[in-house]
Amino acid sequence: MTLSHLQVDHVTRNFKIEADTLTALDDVSLDVAKGEFVTIVGASGCGKSTLLRLLAGLDVASSGTIRHAGDTVAQPSLERGIVFQEPRLFPWLTVEQNVALGLLNSRLPKARKTELVREHLELVGLGGFGGVYPHQLSGGMAQRAGIARGLVSRPNVLLLDEPFGALDAITKADCRTNCRKSGPRSM
Ligand SMILES: Nc1ncnc2c1ncn2[C@@H]1O[C@H](COP(=O)(O)OP(=O)(O)O)[C@@H](O)[C@H]1O
Ligand SMILES: [Mg+2]
Repeated sequence: MTLSHLQVDHVTRNFKIEADTLTALDDVSLDVAKGEFVTIVGASGCGKSTLLRLLAGLDVASSGTIRHAGDTVAQPSLERGIVFQEPRLFPWLTVEQNVALGLLNSRLPKARKTELVREHLELVGLGGFGGVYPHQLSGGMAQRAGIARGLVSRPNVLLLDEPFGALDAITKADCRTNCRKSGPRSM
């Protein structure tokens, strides 16, 4: 799998709130080249998360197009990982099962999936916590499980929605280093 680029082409996203329309993104265009690392900066509520959800294929633009490697983004893909601002773990699944969700649609053999989940739990410092449930983790540990879930498919594009905000300074620095090593291969 080679790196591929991402194209946001005149994207607008309107939300209907009762009788009103809220324009969260208004005619946004940008290109992210292969291997490029892009940071989106803006005040709370300016549309950063909305754009990331569209890039991940979790939401649909009101108008405009998003393309990844030339293909229109219409649904989530193993090739676009996303890590949210909060852990968003399923409480009834163990940490291991939550991370394995990142490989749910992968065709890899089961043994390889298990190995990848273990590797990524180690990567975020959660080796040994695979069998526990989210409520048994601290907030920072739960967030790291969410990070492992976003990385486990080794996606072509990694979308990070301020995922390190809830971590302490030391863990944050470790996670930044490990995320780089773990090879999100673009953005
Ligand atoms: N599902 C939704 N329904 C209605 N409004 C939404 C929805 N998602 C986001 N918004 C609105 O879109 C704007 C941008 O939100 P968001 O992308 O979360 O901002 P940011 O991540 O930059 O803080 C906000 O005004 C927010 O209220
Ligand atoms: Mg946000």
